[in-house]
Amino acid sequence: MWRMLGLVRPLSGFMVISVLCGVAGFCCATFLPVLAVWEACSIVLHQEPPLSLGVCLGTLALMALLRGILRYAEQICNHYIAFKLLAHIRSEIFASLRRLAPARLSGVDRGSLISTLTSDIELLEVFFAHTISPVCIAVLMLVVMVAFTGSFAWQLGLVMLVAQLVVGAVVPIMVYRVSGNGGRVVRDRAAGLSTFVLDGLRGLTEVLQFDVGASRLRTLDERSRRLAGAQRALSAVGSTGSAAADAAIAAFSLAELLVGVNLYMAGVVDASAVAISAAAMLGSFGPAVALASLGSTLQGTLAAAHRVIDVLEEEPVVEEVSEGDTISFGGAAAKNASFSYGRKRVLDNVTVEIPKGSIVGISGKSGSGKSTLCRLMMRFWDVDRGQISISDQRIDTIRTDNLRDMEALVEQDTYLFHQSIRDNLLIAKPHAIQSELDAACRAASVYDFIMGLPEGYDAEVGELGDTLSGGERQRLGLARAFLHDAPLLILDEPTSNLDSLNEGIILCSLDRQRRKRTVLLVSHRASTMAVADRVFSMDSGRVS
Ligand SMILES: Nc1ncnc2c1ncn2[C@@H]1O[C@H](COP(=O)(O)OP(=O)(O)OP(=O)(O)O)[C@@H](O)[C@H]1O
Ligand SMILES: [Mg+2]
Repeated sequence: MWRMLGLVRPLSGFMVISVLCGVAGFCCATFLPVLAVWEACSIVLHQEPPLSLGVCLGTLALMALLRGILRYAEQICNHYIAFKLLAHIRSEIFASLRRLAPARLSGVDRGSLISTLTSDIELLEVFFAHTISPVCIAVLMLVVMVAFTGSFAWQLGLVMLVAQLVVGAVVPIMVYRVSGNGGRVVRDRAAGLSTFVLDGLRGLTEVLQFDVGASRLRTLDERSRRLAGAQRALSAVGSTGSAAADAAIAAFSLAELLVGVNLYMAGVVDASAVAISAAAMLGSFGPAVALASLGSTLQGTLAAAHRVIDVLEEEPVVEEVSEGDTISFGGAAAKNASFSYGRKRVLDNVTVEIPKGSIVGISGKSGSGKSTLCRLMMRFWDVDRGQISISDQRIDTIRTDNLRDMEALVEQDTYLFHQSIRDNLLIAKPHAIQSELDAACRAASVYDFIMGLPEGYDAEVGELGDTLSGGERQRLGLARAFLHDAPLLILDEPTSNLDSLNEGIILCSLDRQRRKRTVLLVSHRASTMAVADRVFSMDSGRVS
């Protein structure tokens, strides 16, 4: 909470304006009936009126107008602060994700990370726009109203103080307590429901093929019912809170009137003071009621803030290296490298030598740790024991951008963005010229395919690369890696989806590029391995 408040500091000027506008606006709203009652009492009791009737009517109209304008200004300031901060937090979150990726993004709780990125940040709008300034406004208005009614008699001020505390603090705190984690339950169930729907859409073919539509529909119904139940429970607490606040307002207004009448009987105050303080009491609850409605949402908002801050403060698995000399590629090696995902040992004392200019193959059973070795070569994780080096320098001491320039990885699944083929390729080299694109696509045996498309390079790739076949995606991934021009190419099953003709073309390209590239090639296939100078075989995390 303090960390969130700290974020507002650079915008504190706007916060002050917002609070001042809020207080002035509520003063207009509260003192409008007070002035009207004062004027009416003076006329009825034949006393000197505070203002002449015409001026009074004009002032009332002005106050009504100002009330609207000030409220508008307050909301503009609040939302300016909120959206500015949300934009700031979003960019901070993405900056932390860059630090945390890819280790954190391949972990088990990726789902909760996605909900933090999307809904949690949005929820903070409530905190920045509808929590901080209303609390300040309510406290200042409490002081103003207690001082005003107290100026007639301290007893009237005391009733006002208790009334404001009950409506603005006791009721919201009770609602906050009673609603417990109801806000979070609603949020979690809503998130679960949308994940379930998305999952169903993605796996539509499987749902149809195995005829599980009816059972998924039943689960969907059940989940919707559970969500509706949680929403009902939460809104029941919210409405009970509003009802309690309304009852308290009525009771305290009556109490103010009775105390006033008693004081009048005792000759402490005159009749107009009784009417004015009762009118002030009735009109003074706006800021406190604004707080009363916060109680049921505050828990969810604070929990969201926690999750956002956790991501911002999370330590990356791999520290980025930003200092050091630029080195050039002179071969890579893993020496006695061991690695575990959590407690699961995947690599055990692995030693692999990749001399500059060679093609080194790695084969082995599924799950033996081949892809893991590739990722360790990229330093997505650091090894637990042993070392991985490039040009005889440990990769955890090489500047990260230098390392990324020296290596290109093509994984088993190529991710293509929902953009044109050209944009997808240019990610690897933003200023590449057309002839470079063509050369890379030819080397990856995808040039003819692109030329066969009506829009050529400008053809759009569907979401998740859905409009392309597995082999086409894979070849575009390879073209992208060729374009990157990194001296070390790490290819994880680059030809698993290809027919032997396309595979042959690609292996020939690799062979031709030998002088300028070193290749680490992972594959199950003996035909792929034929191009390698040396093949290491992996078995249960060990190399032979
Ligand atoms: N992010 C991860 N977290 C935890 N365990 C993982 C993770 N990634 C892989 N593993 C596990 O590590 C082991 C090695 O996985 P890896 O992907 O390196 O195998 P592989 O040799 O590439 O297999 P394949 O030939 O099927 O691609 C597997 O048992 C896998 O379940
Ligand atoms: Mg693999």
